[in-house]
Amino acid sequence: MAKKSGDKAIGQGHPDLPYVGAITRFFEKDAPPDIRKAIQKADKDDILSDSYPYPEEMKSKDYDAHMEVLQQQLVRMMRDVIHTGKRVVVLFEGRDAAGKGGTIERVRENLNPRSAYIVALPKPSEREAGQWYFQRYVDWLPAKGEIALFDRSWYNRGVVERVFGFSGKDERETFFRQLPQFEAMFADDGITLVKLWLSVDRAEQLKRFLDREQDPLKQWKLSSIDVDGLAKWDDYTDAIHDTLSRSHTAVAPWTVIRSDDKRRARIAAIQTILHAVDFVGRDDALIGHPDPKICGGPEILA
Ligand code: ADP
Ligand code: AMP
Ligand code: MLT
Repeated sequence: MAKKSGDKAIGQGHPDLPYVGAITRFFEKDAPPDIRKAIQKADKDDILSDSYPYPEEMKSKDYDAHMEVLQQQLVRMMRDVIHTGKRVVVLFEGRDAAGKGGTIERVRENLNPRSAYIVALPKPSEREAGQWYFQRYVDWLPAKGEIALFDRSWYNRGVVERVFGFSGKDERETFFRQLPQFEAMFADDGITLVKLWLSVDRAEQLKRFLDREQDPLKQWKLSSIDVDGLAKWDDYTDAIHDTLSRSHTAVAPWTVIRSDDKRRARIAAIQTILHAVDFVGRDDALIGHPDPKICGGPEILA
């Protein structure tokens, strides 16, 4: 919240931050009453979603201890990736405020930035919009010894582009037809592909947006997509279900992680990455298995 920095939160209507204020207005006027109530009555560590298998956030002591071990394993993984010339791609997908950015930061924080880099592409330029859809993503695929962490990916075509009408049905059908071949080429060429879908419930998403609106360090993250997307929850749900069911293939399966608890989600995400890469010094017992209550295939969302 605002007190983390010495700076005061910039208020509603500031020209640099036109979306500040819009989240509160949605919360007060348009949010479904049950969502509003869940946010109002929650205590600090409560998980808002009734269907989440734990009532509270993981304790920070347990989180820190496990995260330390996972960080050490990530560093070993990176050394092996560099020495043996492996190539790794990890996709981080999910709704706005699902926790992609924070999870990526935890993966990357102790790694060599030359080896492990983040790919967060803006909306396609006019020229890119006239290319093969996958083309601009191919530019960012790893060379030997590299780990590419994609903060959003080609899956924009299945979800945000559908919900906002940025591309049409024919383009989407072409995308889904080409997708299995495209992703199968990764394995065929020796690239490890890990696809992570972070899933956040509606009340938790809105709460994170409200926090973001008050925090001068996070206000910049608010976009028109976030604001206009608030009223499109169900359209997103449909697009996500279609996308997952059409792209959960044997050669490139999804790992879906319920991210209402950021701590449990970050642990499950890193465990999944570590298990996907075969590296010297991997200690499966220390890493542990992703919690099946919050992590699995697309059926986790059902
Ligand atoms: P983020 O969640 O990455 O902070 P936004 O929520 O603003 O960003 O946007 C979500 C995604 O939608 C981004 O990947 C962005 O590039 C994409 N996007 C926004 N506008 C367009 C557009 N006109 N055409 C295609 N994609 C778009
Ligand atoms: P619906 O109107 O939701 O029944 O959707 C009919 C078809 O149009 C589905 O195949 C959707 O994928 C597609 N569709 C829905 N909304 C959009 C949109 N905003 N832009 C492009 N296609 C869409
Ligand atoms: C996050 O919480 O980092 C989101 O997944 C990314 C966003 O909404 O901008």
